[in-house]
Parts: sequence; structure tokens; C-alpha cells
Amino acid sequence: MRSVIDVPDLSLQELQQLMDTAEDIIARPAAYSECCRGKKLATLFFEPSTRTRLSFEAAMYELGGNVLSVTGAGTSSAAKGESVADTAKTVSCYADIIAMRHPKEGAALVAARNASVPVINAGDGGHCHPTQTLADLLTIRREKGRLDGLTVGLCGDLKFGRTVHSLITAMSRYEGLRFVLISPEELKLPSYVKNDCLKRKNIPYIQTTDLEQVIGDLDILYMTRVQRERFFNEEDYLRLKDSYILTPEKMKKGRADLCVMHPLPRVNEISVAVDEDPRACYFKQVLNGKYMRMALILMLLKEAGRL
Ligand code: NCD
Repeated sequence: MRSVIDVPDLSLQELQQLMDTAEDIIARPAAYSECCRGKKLATLFFEPSTRTRLSFEAAMYELGGNVLSVTGAGTSSAAKGESVADTAKTVSCYADIIAMRHPKEGAALVAARNASVPVINAGDGGHCHPTQTLADLLTIRREKGRLDGLTVGLCGDLKFGRTVHSLITAMSRYEGLRFVLISPEELKLPSYVKNDCLKRKNIPYIQTTDLEQVIGDLDILYMTRVQRERFFNEEDYLRLKDSYILTPEKMKKGRADLCVMHPLPRVNEISVAVDEDPRACYFKQVLNGKYMRMALILMLLKEAGRL
């Protein structure tokens, strides 16, 4: 049973197919509105979420399917001590496909090994978040017309930010990329991501603490929130949380065709005044996420022989 736990579970060709399907859904939504009639998606979210859960659910409804939902560990049998493995076996009896978010790294993989339906990782702790990456890739392709030959700046919490880990994993498979990693010393990209994705493939990258110095070199600026829930102590969070705030003043130093992205939610990292700037793409990213999730649900249900 094929599940999508991390970006490498999808080939480069499949990423392209998913983006092409998403484009077709955008162009001809009515052609897809009955595709999943009678099918059920279970969303098991043991961590807070607005966009990811609702976009999965909206995606399934727009495909004509139905949704079963668990939100918050406190309302399900997880609160009674049920294991992820048993939850996955149970939910497989009711649903055709599962999207799961969990605070523990590796939880989605455990679910996939025990489920008898496809499992999609909707974020596992500080590890990875492959469907946010699908939204990001479609956004970059739509805004820049390509996924290769780009200088990509990632700014903020590169240590705990799972969207950053998955995006670098995906983008490092395209040609001619350069990465600019902008973070406080304490929140640098984990060495496993650096080694597996950048060093091993000889992809050029620099690490800096200074956003203003590098903003003018970037095609993409991917801002991120400092991940408060992954910190061991509140003092460190308070000291680091406002390390970077993108303002209209700083945007003046960016290129005319800069694309500013953010997986959202934002806290203070992007001032609201930047939203008016045509280079702000983060709300387009939200919408693209729904279309890519529709494409992924279709692909996995077809492969599982459920459509
Ligand atoms: C991200 C996440 O959950 O990792 N949000 C999202 O899914 N769009 C980013 C974040 O919470 O900072």
C-alpha cells in the first residue's frame, strides 16, 4: 500500500504529474467534482492546524467525497493511551485514505506500516511536511514558470521548521539551484538535511544571519515562524521569536520579481503591510495547497484500487 510520508516517496515525474493534475483541476473543476463519490478521507490531527486540515477536507469535498475527522489528541482514544498503530488499524476499517498530523517525528510512518489504506503525512513533529511542499512547488512553478535555476532563500526557524526540511529535500532534486539559509545561530538547518540534500549533491548554499544583506540576490524568499511548540524553554523562544520581520522597507531591497512565500501561520515574521505587495504569494500558496491535495488524494486512491 503506497503512502506518502516524506518527499522522496514521490518521484520527480510524479511531482510533475501532480502539478499538472492540479493545473487541470484549476482549469476544469467540474470535471473532478464526482471523482471520489462514496469515498471517505479520515483526517487525524493530533496537533493544531487550520490550513492543512481544512484544505484536505475541502479537497475531498470538492472531489465529491466525504470526510471523517479527529481533531486534538484529547477527543480521541489517543487520550486513553491508544497507540498510533492501533488507531491506524482502526481507522482503516472506516476510511479509504488517511491524512495524519502528529507531534512525534515518525508517527505517520508507524501509521502507514499499520494501516490498510494509504496514509498521507500532514506533518510529523519537527521532521517533515510533504504536502506543504506540494503547495510550495506548485506556487513556485506558477509564479516563476520553472523549478530549476533559482536562488532560494529560507529564513527563520530552519531547525524545527518541517516545511523547510521538506522543501529543501524536494528542491534539491532540480537543476541549478542555490540556497541561502538565513537563521539565528541556534536555529540553523539540521546537519542531516544539509548533508543528505545539499552536500551530497554538491548544491551551492550559504548560511547567514543577515536577511537584509542577501534579500537582493533571491528569486524566492521563504519566511517561517519560530516553532514555539518545539522549544524546550520559553526564554529561548522569546529571545528568538522576532529575529526576522519582513517589512515594506526591507522589501525595497528585493528584486522586482521576488516571490515571498510563507507556509503560514505567520506570527510577526511578515508585517501585514507587505500583504499589499504584488510579490507576496503566501495566500496563493494556501489555495494551491488545496489543489495539490486533491491531486494527491486522486493519485493514491487510484493506485490503491479504490477508484
Ligand atoms: C506549518 C506546519 O504545520 O508545519 N503550517 C502549515 O501546515 N501550513 C508551518 C508552521 O506551523 O509554522
